[in-house]
Order: sequence, then C-alpha cells, then structure tokens
Amino acid sequence: MGLGAEISLADLEASPEPILARLRSEEPVCRVDALDMWLVTRWDDVAFMEATPDVFTAATEPSFLARALGQNMLTIDPPEHARLSGIFKPPFLSKGRSGRFVAEELAELAERLLDEIVSRRVDGEPIRFDVMADYAQPLSAGSLAIVLGLDDHGFDRMWAWCEGLCADIANFENDPARTAEAEVVKAELGAAIMARIEATTSEDEAAIARFVQAGATPEEIVNNVRLMISGGINEPRDGIGLVTWVLLDDPDLRSVIDADPGRMRRLIEEVFRVHSPVGTVTRQTTKDIELGGVAIPKGDLVAGVLRSINLDETHWTDPDRIDLDRREGSHAAFALGAHRCLGEWLGRQEVKVGVERLLARFPDLRLDDGSGPVELHGFEFRGPRAVHVVAPAS
Ligand code: HEM
Repeated sequence: MGLGAEISLADLEASPEPILARLRSEEPVCRVDALDMWLVTRWDDVAFMEATPDVFTAATEPSFLARALGQNMLTIDPPEHARLSGIFKPPFLSKGRSGRFVAEELAELAERLLDEIVSRRVDGEPIRFDVMADYAQPLSAGSLAIVLGLDDHGFDRMWAWCEGLCADIANFENDPARTAEAEVVKAELGAAIMARIEATTSEDEAAIARFVQAGATPEEIVNNVRLMISGGINEPRDGIGLVTWVLLDDPDLRSVIDADPGRMRRLIEEVFRVHSPVGTVTRQTTKDIELGGVAIPKGDLVAGVLRSINLDETHWTDPDRIDLDRREGSHAAFALGAHRCLGEWLGRQEVKVGVERLLARFPDLRLDDGSGPVELHGFEFRGPRAVHVVAPAS
C-alpha cells in the first residue's frame, strides 16, 4: 500500500511540511485517495507539468473554479489564454494603474489604517492588535479595490465578496447551502462590476475601465474580476502577516533588516519561498502520461505542490532556512507556467510597503506572547490565523 492511502486533507491542512518531505523522498508522484488526485512534490516534475499545458490542462472537468466564478483565465489554456492575459495583466504592472497606486496611494492607505489602530490607544496602555484582521486584510482588500475601481463599495464589502467566492471555490463536498450563499455574493458582485463597466469613460484609468477599453466582453470582465478578488486579497494579506511574524519572531533577522532596509526585498522572497501561501497548481491530464517514472492515466487530476517544490532538497541548499544571500534562482510561490500570477508585482509591493509602514510606525512592536504562538492553517491557501502584537505604551 502506498503513502497516498494514509494522507488526509485534515493532516495536510494542519501540518503539511512533514508529509510533503516524506512524499518527496519516498513517493514524489503519489495518488492520494482522500483527495482523489495526484500530488507531485519535486521541483523538476512540477516544472515539467507547468511547461506542458497541452498534457496538464487548466481546463479541468469538473472545475470548482469555473463553477464558482464562471470560465476565466485560470480555466483556459494557451494559446487562447494569451489573449486574456494581454487584456487583464497590464493594469497590474508597474506602468499600469498599479504603478501609480503604489507610487502615490499605497503608503497613505497604510498610514490611514495605522492611524485607526493608534486611535484606539488608551492613555498609558500598550496597543494590542491583530496584524491580520486589523491591518493586512483591509490593506490588501483596499489596494485591490482601488486598482480595480471598486473602492466606492468600501473595503469590508470587498472582503465579504472575497470570502463568499472563496467559500464556494473550496466547496469540495458540493454542499448546496454553501453554493446558494455564494450565488448571492456572486450576483451582488456581478452587479457592482457591471455598473462599473457601464460608468467607464475614455479617460478612466481604473483596471476595470482598461479591460473595457482593451475589448474584453462584460462576461469576461465579470468572471476575471471575480478571479482577481478571490485570489488577490488573501495572498498579499497572508504575505504581510507572514513577513511580520517571521521578523518579529527572529530578533537577529530584525537587526539585519533594520541595519540595511534594502534587504527587505530578499526577505519577502525567502518568506514566500519557505511558506508558499498558495499550495498547488491543479491540472488534469489530457492523455496517459509518465511523470517521474509513474504512469498517470488520462483524465486524472494532478496537483503540482508549489509549497513542496519550494522546499525541495534536490533544488535548494538548506531549504528550510531563510537565507537573505541565497542565489539559487527564483522560487515557485507565484507558479512557473502560463498561469504565473498576474498580480505578483502589485502583491509584492503591498507586502513590502505594508510591513515597512507597520514597523516604521511601531518600531518596538513585538509578538503578544499572552495570545499564544502564531498558528498557520490551510493547505491550498496557508497563512496565519492571527498575528497578535503589542506596541508598548509611548
Ligand atoms: C502576493 C501574493 C500572491 C501569491 C503568492 C499569488 C500566487 C498565485 C499563484 C501560485 C498563481 C497560479 C495559480 C495556478 O496556476 O493554478 C496565481 C495566479 C493568479 N493570481 Fe496571484 N498571487 C498573489 C497575489 C495576487 C494579486 C495581488 C492578484 C491581483 C489581481 C492576483 C491575481 C491572480 C490571477 C488573476 C491569477 C491567474 C493568472 C492566469 O491564469 O494567468 N494574485 N497567483
């Protein structure tokens, strides 16, 4: 009996690293019964999957993503995917709306959220807060709302849309009650996007306006903006929480960054590599194929585990260590193939500016030991449940 019979989703969500390490060493291409799919855990095999989209298709059947969001760029393969990428990517690059947002608005947004946290200070008392809920979440919901041009609806609404969509994407049991709740969110968000499309003018710079100007149909815009909201908020939020936690938990690392703030970029890359907020790229075989010496039949679902390949001992030296001087090429936290993250430039900036502003405002920030250790949770999406911190009384 193979390892795949022993692995459960609950174990992967609680503590994936030891399971993934065992898979890499004993069964790097492994069929996991409980997931009804293959897990591929070594760098070279996942790189092959990503380079071979005609065999490992993103147009899976069934597709939780297409059911929850409608057909979108992540459910369509090259070459058709290239047209959508050409329309939807430019506003997320430094030359697009995201560039102006980062240069002119992101730091101000962070400062505003920090002002709100400070305004809760009771004289003489330290300020206690949760970096995730009180800061990272509104910062990343707000950033995407502004770039897309949906900020009139408020950041909380944006977060509620994100949660509603994600609940349906993760509805693996096909619970009709969850789908019905998500339908309400989908309809409300769809109406908000349609209204924004209709309000577009020729000078409008918001990403949604750029999609209209680039010739996307309303349905393409609605479905792909849903995809952006479902993926583009949780991940920068987790990134901000993870980098803050890693820094506050390691005073030596904190001193290195304080002495040379330019090294923050390297730190962010290493945190993304070691903690990989997105667990897998899931595809389906279009024909019988041998991968890593194992025969996979046509039609099976195959998950390339980014979280595992970012720690693959055959690819990285001392992979678990955060090493700011590492020069071993880029990691796979944003994926490797045609579907490589569209929002990676913006996401990195949110994490960088978010953490820098937080630490500049509260130079003596520390983890709140009274709230217990920081716990990570999730497999497909993994981040801290909370990062409770204390800023001493000034
Ligand atoms: C900063 C943390 C982020 C991480 C770690 C991350 C990770 C990823 C990964 C691994 C994929 C590939 C998924 C697959 O192939 O199945 C992906 C795709 C995608 N991401 Fe991100 N992401 C982040 C931020 C963002 C942001 C801020 C946006 C904003 C819109 C975004 C939008 C997207 C979209 C639309 C795709 C699909 C691209 C395509 O199909 O061509 N992501 N992301």
